[in-house]
Amino acid sequence: MRMHTKVVIIGAGPAGLLLGHLLHRQGIDSVILERHDRAYVERRVRAGVLEQGTVDLLNEAGLGDRMRREGLVHHGFNLQFEGERHRIALTELTQGRSVTVYGQQEVVKDLIAARLESGAPLLFDVDEVSLHAIDGPHPRVRFRSDGQNQELVCDFIAGCDGFHGVCRPSFPAGVLRMYERTYPFSWLGILASAPVSSDELIYALHDRGFALYSMRSPTVGRLYVQCPNDDRLENWSDDRIWSELTTRLATHDGWRLLDGPILERGITQMRSVVAEPMQHGCLFLAGDAAHVVPPTGAKGMNLAVADIKVLGEALAAWYLQGRADLMDQYSATCLRRVWRAEHFSWWMTSMLHRFPDDDAFQTQLQLSQLRYTVSSRAAATSVAENYVGLAHV
Ligand code: FAD
Ligand code: PHB
Repeated sequence: MRMHTKVVIIGAGPAGLLLGHLLHRQGIDSVILERHDRAYVERRVRAGVLEQGTVDLLNEAGLGDRMRREGLVHHGFNLQFEGERHRIALTELTQGRSVTVYGQQEVVKDLIAARLESGAPLLFDVDEVSLHAIDGPHPRVRFRSDGQNQELVCDFIAGCDGFHGVCRPSFPAGVLRMYERTYPFSWLGILASAPVSSDELIYALHDRGFALYSMRSPTVGRLYVQCPNDDRLENWSDDRIWSELTTRLATHDGWRLLDGPILERGITQMRSVVAEPMQHGCLFLAGDAAHVVPPTGAKGMNLAVADIKVLGEALAAWYLQGRADLMDQYSATCLRRVWRAEHFSWWMTSMLHRFPDDDAFQTQLQLSQLRYTVSSRAAATSVAENYVGLAHV
């Protein structure tokens, strides 16, 4: 079966769904193709911290109702080392900006609900997606859906299919330059039914490694501990997870971590990746398909949203005003923000983790950097403005 649309969007994560929504609001047709089923996509627990710019965009796009009701607005977060907690006063240091804790899967649920309500096509469970003629004026996307081979002829393809998708590998050989850094550790993350122990996030450096206290609601915690890359979930009993978190997050003033039943758990490898350029012919990469950051700076989903803001505006300028300039500048515009986030997340990661080859010198450098960050207003402002998201980069 052969059909036509203007933009084929591959992947129904935050990037693909948001692009579909922004295009629909401008009257531009698109079809979204997703490999998994709806329940899987809505259940996947991932990022949780939305930058001010992400919140503003979701609100402007009419997607903010539930986020405003259920999201937790945070005006600061904590850096902890040597058993002491130091607050970075985000709002005070950034002229009133803040972040909002609202799970990625909640954003995805809101986006899917909006897409289904609009009646615009969103196909789950598609298989064997392949891209053709991306250098020419009439690119095509082939796939299988409901047991049938289908083909979509379009003007543009948005590659929003994450790090393991098909779009980035569809670039012709020799076009992409890949920049990569892998880290010698991973994060074991849990979602737990546990009362809030701290109103704000805590990023902790401990002799035993990094730990992060975060949350999803007043009754659901989201916590992480650094673990080796070859570690397995079977090695981590509930008792071991809570004991490790309790040790790494302990302070000298007797603060207590409240535990509870663990609802979800997973291990995430930490890596930094950038693919340049983010566009070739009519194929535009966005989000994790083009770049990955370690989660320490809470930038992954925010970068995906920032790419889509640029791509949505560029496509609107193309279709509604006949302008090509924003499309031409897409990759360069996005990469400026991407590299800022790559640097920030690498820097936070380097400052807050134990590395296997750490020596006493390295440890002292980390501690000195942390002390400076929490005691100098200039250094704290730099962290704060990166964390809430820079308006201009
Ligand atoms: P994705 O959310 O990956 O969406 C891509 C979509 O494309 C998926 O639904 C996928 O099923 C679909 N797809 C893939 N291949 C195909 C195909 N061939 N055909 C059709 N569809 C396809 N960031 C943080 O800030 N904090 C965190 O704690 C955190 N945890 C993470 C944990 C994991 C396991 C991962 C993978 C990422 C995590 N991130 C985290 C990063 C953050 O979640 C991502 O940056 C964000 O999901 C990017 O959104 P996206 O839409 O670009 O990609
Ligand atoms: C989360 O709540 O999942 C979270 C928060 C901050 C991070 C990473 C993950 O830096």
